Amino acid sequence: MKQFFYVLSFALLLGGCSPDEAVVPTPPVADSTKKDSSFTPTPYNLIYPTIKRNGYFRVWPRLVMPANNPLTVEGVALGKKLFFDSLLSATNTIACASCHLQTQAFADNKRFSVGVEGRVGSRNSMPLFNLGWAEMFNQTPHRFFWDGRKASMEDQVLGPIGDPVEMNQDLAELVTELKAKADYPQMFKKAFGSDSITIKGVMMAIAQFERTLISGNSKFDKYLRFEAELTEQELNGYAIYSTEGKGDCFHCHAVSPLFTDFSMRNNGLDSVVEGKGLGAITGNPLHMGLFKTPSLRNLSFTAPYMHDGRFNTLEEVVEFYNSQTKDSQTTDAAIRKHFKNGGLNLTSKEKADLVAFLRTLNDEDFLTNPNFK
Ligand code: HEC
Ligand code: HEC
Repeated sequence: MKQFFYVLSFALLLGGCSPDEAVVPTPPVADSTKKDSSFTPTPYNLIYPTIKRNGYFRVWPRLVMPANNPLTVEGVALGKKLFFDSLLSATNTIACASCHLQTQAFADNKRFSVGVEGRVGSRNSMPLFNLGWAEMFNQTPHRFFWDGRKASMEDQVLGPIGDPVEMNQDLAELVTELKAKADYPQMFKKAFGSDSITIKGVMMAIAQFERTLISGNSKFDKYLRFEAELTEQELNGYAIYSTEGKGDCFHCHAVSPLFTDFSMRNNGLDSVVEGKGLGAITGNPLHMGLFKTPSLRNLSFTAPYMHDGRFNTLEEVVEFYNSQTKDSQTTDAAIRKHFKNGGLNLTSKEKADLVAFLRTLNDEDFLTNPNFK
């Protein structure tokens, strides 16, 4: 029972960050000089999943939207159109959706994604859901991408557009191309009150669409709403996940509803961490080998795993945590503390139970939600 209290207090800790206290980065402001007075965008009503089983898990925390980029129906519609439009790449062949497929929880199934002209990157595509909470729960500027190099969702958008191995797009040219399309000027006007198309508008609209990508209808969510029961194996896997002397996964990946604490950590993948992860961005020796702790939702759709896609199956991932974690100057204390016992020492049954629990976090409805198509 002790471990269960641990989980509850951890949930409280996450829940204890009230919307008022959350630090939200300030995105750039759109050009507001030419707004006409008839500009009345429709507020977008974000639907949050509900939770009923036990007091601490009753609500999903409410997202705090940046004051200068509130969600609007028109902004989200524009962001969605841009997300699926290959006009955003230099060759007009690659859209955001080329590497972020809805059928794969907005990741892809390749080890490394392929960008314009078949260029291959060095990172595994990240799934896109429940991203807005990174801006609430990670109190540092290192919130997006595997190496945490971007602080806000607005900022993040320019990364792939300009990246030579992704979309390789010249921004001025993109604006010219968007202006020449029949529908974009009026969509920008409806979203931001001015038909002068700007890169800031592109960033704000795509960020709005990304904030609507909420995944919270897995079997585990249904269990928390008394709509489904978990098998004995799945419940045992959950106990292993959330017990310090067993899987101990919750220390970094937290518990419901987000299954990550959004922190940058070194989970012990490599013994040499120099020049890797967040440290390659900040130059800080304490940041070497730190990568973003991903959510464990929807894992069945997002293989391969880790920033470099080195593991193909969840069984391999669990075996890694069980017996293959490496020490280095930045390996996290939550990994290091198990070294004295030679790893987690899970039995084959416990490993299988843990994987069974992880699979209860798959949300098939998210893959077919018409709002995101
Ligand atoms: C060529 C494939 C490719 C394209 C095109 C692409 N992405 Fe990505 N995306 C990736 C990869 C790979 C990563 C991880 C990169 C890294 O961490 O360095 C990523 C990461 C992200 C993240 C970070 C998620 C997180 O949890 O931190 C977001 C958000 C994102 N992409 C949105 C977009 C948007 C919006 C577009 C279009 C403007 C886009 N991507 C285009 C491959 C792509
Ligand atoms: C010390 C913090 C920490 C602990 C403890 C931890 N993880 Fe992780 N986990 C991470 C980080 C950080 C990453 C990303 C690492 C990378 O790609 O470099 C990650 C990645 C993963 C991934 C890959 C997800 C993806 O989208 O590629 C899975 C699956 C995973 N962890 C499951 C688990 C399980 C199961 C446990 C418990 C046995 C666990 N983790 C314990 C921090 C942790």
